[in-house]
This record gives sequence, C-alpha cells and structure tokens, in this order.
Amino acid sequence: MAPETQQFDLIVLGGGPGGYVCAIRASQLGLKTALVEKRATIGGTCVNVGCIPSKALLDSSHRYHDLMEGLTEHGIEVEKPRLNLKAMMDRKTGIVKELTDGLDFLMKKNKITVLRGTGSFIGQKDGQVQIQVEGQNGSAVAQAGKVVIATGSEVIPLPGLEVDGEHIITSDHAIALQKVPEHLVIIGGGVIGLELGSVWKRLGARVTVIELLPGILMGLDRQMRELALRLFKQQGLEFLFEHKVVGAENKKGQVEIKIVDKDDKEAAPIIADKLLVAVGRRPFTDKLNLESVGVKLTERGRVAVDGHSLQTSNPLIYAIGDVIDGPMLAHKAEEEGVKIAEDLAGKSGHVNYNAVPFVVYSWPEIAWVGKGEDELKAAGIPYNSGKFLFRPNGRAKAMGAGDGQVKILAHKETDELLGIAIVGPGASELIAEAVIAIEFGAAAEDIARSFHAHPTLAEVMKEAALAVDRRALHA
Ligand code: NAI
Repeated sequence: MAPETQQFDLIVLGGGPGGYVCAIRASQLGLKTALVEKRATIGGTCVNVGCIPSKALLDSSHRYHDLMEGLTEHGIEVEKPRLNLKAMMDRKTGIVKELTDGLDFLMKKNKITVLRGTGSFIGQKDGQVQIQVEGQNGSAVAQAGKVVIATGSEVIPLPGLEVDGEHIITSDHAIALQKVPEHLVIIGGGVIGLELGSVWKRLGARVTVIELLPGILMGLDRQMRELALRLFKQQGLEFLFEHKVVGAENKKGQVEIKIVDKDDKEAAPIIADKLLVAVGRRPFTDKLNLESVGVKLTERGRVAVDGHSLQTSNPLIYAIGDVIDGPMLAHKAEEEGVKIAEDLAGKSGHVNYNAVPFVVYSWPEIAWVGKGEDELKAAGIPYNSGKFLFRPNGRAKAMGAGDGQVKILAHKETDELLGIAIVGPGASELIAEAVIAIEFGAAAEDIARSFHAHPTLAEVMKEAALAVDRRALHA
C-alpha cells in the first residue's frame, strides 16, 4: 500500500539555521509547516559541526593560552597548566547537545512537524509539490503548496587529496582531534583556516597555512587584512602564500605534502601530522531530484533564484542560504528564511545584502560590514576614511587587549556609512552597531554624536567615526 501523503502549507528541506528559522517564522505566522532533516539533530552544519563547536574550542583554547602566557602581566602567576583535551572536547560536545536539544524543543513549541530523513522532490501536481523523505524507518511522502530548499553546503574536495579523516582531514575532523598535532598544515587562509588554525596553535601545534592567493580574507579591506595578518604572524602562525597543494602521501604516520608555486614550479614538500582542507564549500544539491520540478542551477552550481523573491525557476519553490548565491553565512541564511516565511504569509519580507556582517572569531577578532577602500575606488565612489586604534582606549588597556583598529569609510559628500571594519577585541559584538547604522542609512556623524558608555571598547567606534571628520578626541 502506498504511504499516505502528509499535507502541509510549507515544507522546508534542511534543518540548518536557514531552514529551521524559516520553519519557526512560518509557523508563527500560521502556516502548517514541516521541516525535513537527514541528520539525527536539527541545526545543520553550523550547530552540529561548524560555528558552535568551533566557537566552544576557540573559547577554551583562548583561556588555555591565557593561562600559559597572558596572565603574568595581570599579576597572576600559575603553575604550568595542563591540557585535558578530552574534557575540552566533551565540553564542546555538551554545548552542541544542549543547543540541538533546545532546537527540538523549539520545533515542538512551534508545532513544526520534523520529518527525519533525506528529502527529495518527486514532482508537482495540482499546485502541490511532492517530497519523498527516506528515513531510517522507511520512506514517507509529503506535499505542500510551497517548498523552501535550505540544504546548505559541503566541503569542496581538492583533486589528488583523499580525505581519510586521519591524516587528511576537513573541519569536521579538526574540531574533534584527540591529540594536539605537532604540525598542522591547513590548505586555505579563509575563515575556517584562521579559526581552527588559531585553536590548534593556542593548544601547542605548529600551524602552517598554505594559500593560493597573495593574502588572507580577500573580502576584507586591504589595509585591515594586512593588519590582521601581521597579528596572526606575531602569534606564530606561518603562511605560505601563492602556493597550492597538488598531492599528499601518507608516510610512516605522517603526511608528505607536495606543493607548487604560482608558476607551477615544484616547491620543497612539507611534512605534517595533519593536513586540513579548508578551501571553501559548495552548495549541497545532491540527489534532490531538482529536474523533476524544473529547478535550475546557476553556472556555478548554486540553485538559481530571483534576487528579489528568492523564488527558483519553479514559482512554488524557493531557496535560501548556502545553496544560493552570496556569502555562506548562517545569519544570511536566517534572514532569507524569515523573509520567505513573511512573504508567504502576505507580509513584506526584507533582506539588506549591503548590511551582512562578516566575522572571524580569532584573537583579536575580525569583523566587517559593507565595502573596503579598494572596492570603493573601483566603483568610483568618493569617501573619507576614519581610523582609530584600540591601544589608547581605556577599556582595551585595562583588559590588556590593545592590538587592533577600527576603520570607518563614509561617503565624501553625504557622510553616509559605506564600510566598517574592525580588527580588535570584541569585534564580533562591536560590529552589531555598524550593521544597525548601515541598516538605518546612518552617517559617520550619527555614530560620532551618539553616546558610547565609558569606558568601553565601543568608544573606539565613536573615535573612528570622529576621525572621519579629522576630530578624534584621544588621538
Ligand atoms: P573560505 O572561502 O573562507 O576560504 C577558502 C580559502 O581557500 C580562500 O582564501 C581561497 O583563496 C583558498 N583556496 C582555495 N583553493 C585553494 C587551493 N587549492 N590551495 C590553497 N588555497 C586555496 O572557505 P572556508 O574557510 O573553507 O570556509 C567555508 C565557508 O564557511 C565559508 O563560506 C565561510 O564563510 C564559512 N565559515 C564562516 C565562519 C564564520 O562566519 N566565522 C566560520 C567558518 C566557516
């Protein structure tokens, strides 16, 4: 007997931050909603193996590193601390569990039906899109008038390198190592490379980053990324720019990494215990059977959507997050999910792509929103620049965290904020002020004239905004 078809207003494929947030908002607005998730837990890459576990390890390793090196200037002397990596990993696992349990609770609270299993399209009939869900306990069929694809992304493999989880690893493995590697080599000087490189460096590994391009974080303002690179180097991270890995071989429990320079000239191989591949992610659309419902991909393999409505080539089907164009960031996916839910419920959803913040949770943290100087020059937009260091800031001094700077770029004629970049303590939180200012179309003057509690790190934002008009107070 064919399984009974369950009927919904909306089915969301994928329970990452984009998908589950979309489902919650849709449910809040009265849509009967199902969420299809193949993992045993909700939360996607971000909660299960990405943002959250890496932040847990970044926090723990930061504390360890402080104990090892950072506390004597505060007048605190400790016997040599001992690393209990298992306890650190257990803490991380516990945090993930608490959050995924919390998400299960949120699904129940919002009366969202969670269909456990791998979803794929079957087809479309009478204005209803049919979805098959292959679960551990058999398959189910569900249908809805609207479907959102939120299936996320997967690690891009490198030709010639087979991930074995032992010597050649991805971030999934790098957040769960049971021993501190002596030498960790990372391919890719992007966000994962810098965050996980920081974790293992702080825990005692030698870390080498091999990057194809001439610098790190190419989306960040040039001067700010050079500042960040200098600080990473001061911490002992090693970088090999304009090189690429062309192969790797296991040799007596280690991995020999073959590299070539930008002219394809062979360079001396590097021996490491672990080789982490972190060269970006690609959209995950495998086995979705998109052809059955006429959903088209872009040339780069992302689900093609209309930029305004996020509708795919099938008007009943939408897509959000890592599977469509744009930065692969949880908060970008979340905003898109909320927008679609609101549009479907007859409201006016909204995503302001000019105000997407980027954050790297290194030490010091790096965060930015809007454009950098090179982008503004290339676009012919006249601007003023204001910069202010953390060093003279009272709170930063009290914390012993003076490295870094805030840079604010504002339109030369209108003073409208165009880009804000922060390398410094608390950047991940400070950027929220910048995002709101850009969202409200504020001018540098608006930040400059607003109260910023004293003494706080946020005063560096105010000083940088004053510096746009050459009137910083503590410079
Ligand atoms: P990424 O796109 O941030 O960086 C990849 C880097 O690898 C780039 O610098 C690229 O030039 C380099 N690269 C590419 N091919 C290479 C090759 N063959 N050899 C050497 N270098 C090569 O990607 P990443 O770090 O893997 O992160 C994946 C995604 O996850 C990103 O979209 C990122 O935004 C997201 N993510 C975000 C985090 C955050 O918001 N804090 C944390 C971790 C990941």
